Amino acid sequence: MTRIYAAVSNKGGAGKTTLVTLLSGEYALRGERVLLIDADARKNLSGWWKLCHTKGNVPENIAVTIAATQRSIETEIARLGRSFDLIVIDAPGVDSTILSTIIRTSQIVISPVQPAIKEIEAAGQAAAAVNEINDEFGSRILHFNVRTRITVPGRNLEAYRYIRPFVAGLVAADYQTTLLETELFERNVYREIQNGLGTLQMQELTETVRKARAEVQALVTEIEQKRADIVREEAA
Ligand SMILES: Nc1ncnc2c1ncn2[C@@H]1O[C@H](COP(=O)(O)OP(=O)(O)OP(=O)(O)O)[C@@H](O)[C@H]1O
Ligand SMILES: [Mg+2]
Repeated sequence: MTRIYAAVSNKGGAGKTTLVTLLSGEYALRGERVLLIDADARKNLSGWWKLCHTKGNVPENIAVTIAATQRSIETEIARLGRSFDLIVIDAPGVDSTILSTIIRTSQIVISPVQPAIKEIEAAGQAAAAVNEINDEFGSRILHFNVRTRITVPGRNLEAYRYIRPFVAGLVAADYQTTLLETELFERNVYREIQNGLGTLQMQELTETVRKARAEVQALVTEIEQKRADIVREEAA
């Protein structure tokens, strides 16, 4: 069955689109057929895709479609879903009714969290939204938080140190949400692929690209591991 994941945070610039492109490249490299849905009317993701075509850097195993309304998301998934192993939805960075459609459609909702209070609160709101939908519909959508734009000095920031206890507080309040251990660092390569360079996994394997790829590989491995763990726990 096609899995559906979504990057959700109502904080603009949290790192959703970057996360979606990074994940897509890694899953595609693992042989999965990946469909990306650009559900943000500002079309950053499809802008990247267009530039990739212009520059002749079209990744294999990836397709991108635009669907920024509830109806079009449902139609696109019904129309294309069966041809893909994984669908990743890039949500808009604003509060919008489309967020609940995106969440309800997904099996995993991932919120990128930068070490800043607004970003942390937005991840908390995404966790709450996922849990409310689970309560309402009896679904078991997972919510993961991934720290991004991390730097070594940034780890001393109060906001950075607040992320773990914040997520622990949500869990203590009976929310299903998980802080992933893998962090995405602040990296120029992540920023540059937006200029139509294809995926991270298509870049020449310099030392910086190698480090970035190891990070994204670890992230995908952890997502799949945690998914399997939670599914197993729930079945037990
Ligand atoms: N790990 C990272 N390292 C370096 N730059 C990053 C990283 N993550 C995101 N960025 C940069 O931060 C900016 C915002 O990221 P991105 O567009 O992915 O966020 P978004 O959540 O999709 O934003 P929006 O809500 O506007 O859609 C971009 O310029 C992107 O290149
Ligand atoms: Mg975006």
